[in-house]
Amino acid sequence: MTGSHGDGMKKHLVVAIDGPAGSGKSTVARRLAAAIGLERLDTGAMYRAVAWAAIDSGVPLDDGAALGELARALRIDVTDGAVVVGGTDVTAAVRTPEVNHAVSLVAAVPAVRAELAARQRRWVEERGGGVVEGRDIGSVVFPEASVKVYLDASPGERARRRGDEGAEAVARRDRLDASRALAPLSVPEGAHVIDTTRLSVDAVVEEVLAWI
Ligand code: DC
Repeated sequence: MTGSHGDGMKKHLVVAIDGPAGSGKSTVARRLAAAIGLERLDTGAMYRAVAWAAIDSGVPLDDGAALGELARALRIDVTDGAVVVGGTDVTAAVRTPEVNHAVSLVAAVPAVRAELAARQRRWVEERGGGVVEGRDIGSVVFPEASVKVYLDASPGERARRRGDEGAEAVARRDRLDASRALAPLSVPEGAHVIDTTRLSVDAVVEEVLAWI
């Protein structure tokens, strides 16, 4: 019999993709997932969903206990491209400058991270694997991932890819994400590092496929 619980993560094919904003994670993860026939989970969208809900319901962004409670109570559905919170489609709403600004504060709260990381592990368990992208996927959420990839690109190129967000805002978010106490953005042990500045999506996907 296969698929029994308690076998651990090792038997699942988990591809962990980490990196800063604009490094190409989402594009590469989507293409990769399609190529190997697995689903993709955008964990950044989950943090964005909590940040959106905090703003929407007036939870102060410096109240860690209230943010943790909010995260635990929230129904978040992230499917390819769409983000739905408690039945409300917030796909566009989670990409506003307001949420861009709030999300790194929300993501620094230990109770929020604990809740979302647990949901991410459950998501993989339910599917028997997946392509998971974020900031702490290979380092904290799935340290035993089958393949770990860390994407990076020059600050100028990342700001260009993020378009409207602006170089200043992207730099601030990266600074906060990389300097927080818990699960900061970092190159996970055993990760393949790719600088995507001058690479096509095809070239990056091909390189990663070769490691799987
Ligand atoms: O991938 P993104 O830019 O949409 O992510 C939004 C924010 O969420 C990012 O600035 C930091 C946070 N995040 C995180 O802390 N851990 C993750 N695994 C994914 C995202």
